[in-house]
Amino acid sequence: MNIKDLFIEFFKEKGHVEIPSAPVVPENDPSVLFNTAGMQPLIPYLMGEPHPSGTRLCDYQKCIRLTDLDSVGDKTHHTFFEMLGNWSLGDYFKKESIDYSFEFLTKVLKIPVERLAVTVFKGDKDIPKDEESANYWLEHHISSKKIAYLGKEDNFWAAGETGPCGTDTEIFYWRSEEEVPEVFDPKDDRWVEIWNNVFMQYNRLADGTITMLPKKNVDTGMGYERITAVVEGKTDNYTSSIWKPIIATIEKIANVTYEGNEKSIRIIADHLRTAVFIAADNAGIRPSNTDQGYILRRLIRRAIRYAKMLGIDLESDWEQTIASSIMDEYETYYDEIKNNRETVLQVLKEEKKKFAHTLEKGLKEFSKVIESKKEIDGTTAFHLYDTYGFPIELSMELASEKNIPIDIKGFEEKMNEHQEKSRTASKGKFKGGLSGNGEMETKYHTATHLLNAALKKVIGPDTHQRGSNITEERMRFDFNCDHKLTEEEKQKVEALVNEWIKEDLPVTKTEMKKQEALKMGAEAMFIEKYPDIVNVYQIGNVSKEICGGPHVTHTSELGTFKIKKEEASSAGIRRIKAVLEENN
Ligand code: ALA
Repeated sequence: MNIKDLFIEFFKEKGHVEIPSAPVVPENDPSVLFNTAGMQPLIPYLMGEPHPSGTRLCDYQKCIRLTDLDSVGDKTHHTFFEMLGNWSLGDYFKKESIDYSFEFLTKVLKIPVERLAVTVFKGDKDIPKDEESANYWLEHHISSKKIAYLGKEDNFWAAGETGPCGTDTEIFYWRSEEEVPEVFDPKDDRWVEIWNNVFMQYNRLADGTITMLPKKNVDTGMGYERITAVVEGKTDNYTSSIWKPIIATIEKIANVTYEGNEKSIRIIADHLRTAVFIAADNAGIRPSNTDQGYILRRLIRRAIRYAKMLGIDLESDWEQTIASSIMDEYETYYDEIKNNRETVLQVLKEEKKKFAHTLEKGLKEFSKVIESKKEIDGTTAFHLYDTYGFPIELSMELASEKNIPIDIKGFEEKMNEHQEKSRTASKGKFKGGLSGNGEMETKYHTATHLLNAALKKVIGPDTHQRGSNITEERMRFDFNCDHKLTEEEKQKVEALVNEWIKEDLPVTKTEMKKQEALKMGAEAMFIEKYPDIVNVYQIGNVSKEICGGPHVTHTSELGTFKIKKEEASSAGIRRIKAVLEENN
């Protein structure tokens, strides 16, 4: 039995209810592109809402983390992974959490206790030292020399700037052939973190204040790919049983061995696996030039480039075969993989068609430029993007391989210029060069801000966005509200949005420090991992939101706003479907 199944079985025996993995594209949170931790879909319950499955939960959650996308190719990084997690929602706390983790690792996975070490919170002016956790570890015969006390940077966990958080205890494993040292040094990277147990009892507010949550919760997370590699004695995650069939398929198609071609094979395996999960998600994400669609595009195109480097015949069905072998591994766990198999294959095929034939020409162009110029200037980078479909990150990677500079700022200027042009062009009913690059999506994006503001006025100031989904044809917007909107409320909301559109309010963007933005009352989503510097989009005096954009420059560009449907989305969350119609 694999560790995923063992984990679930173990926690079920300990009275936990297994809950299904939430989709990789968050359903009720437009502020993050993908789910990055097992706890993310559980935030309302960690905040105190009762969970329908009770107070003890466990699952394996599909996660996508993009911060390390460029590091993929080494032994340990992945863009997609599964996080094994168990939760107590106001049920057990530190003792049982540590007992369970210890028992699972040493009894079920049979990891020798000598190879384990832990960190606990060392205490600071706000929160005392976590002696309690340290004592439980000592009771389990973790030697005091294997317990390190660290500060907030290491032993305090939160998904974002605001929301549930708490001190944690992290479990490390000695992953080396060398003898286990007597004293644990958390800086020695032969000690790898395998499990994080967070004691979530605090809530962090936008101004930084910490309050107590109504209940003390436990949130744990263990990376499935890492723990599997550890237990199987592998230092290269990609050689564990999880990857075996997928890597074997790639070896066969490329007619090469993994040894000697690790980087390319890992990138193809990782990127196609993540692409499969994004394309299979019921959110219906397709390759595009914005948001999740852009990530999907980047992953597929980077995989194609590495496939070419491996000598795979791009015209062949290589990507279909690899994706199929990936889906074979996951379809028993995830319905969307089983149900959307054909769609995934189609998405990959089409994106390959779009890119494969321009890749070669683009690469030639790239080589020509660097012979004469010794730099990739903004115009060239934009040309590679616009004509050959090179995501800017691909050009950056090529430039870095050749050790030549690339002018990103220049690229962005060209890009902005171009978008400005195609916006103007589309007003004259022409499609711009980057057709499908979000003319309508941009409008809908601005419309969500107006709708958000209108709902606050009509329903009440505590109404907040809980999710949104935009396509070229329509927008979907989720918000908290305890009742079905009346006809009158709907009409008021619609009228308000249209009034603001008519007023042709300017949409302005200001870059500022996150704290400043929150202080000035900019609307912010619950759990976003905001960077330190954020963009605040302001629409006249009606709306201020932290947001990545893009947006129209004036509201009159939106046309006429129409609510098509208002329905329940989930408990306490309503959903509006709306469209923008052109004014005649
Ligand atoms: N939420 C914690 C993490 O992601 C367990 O590490």
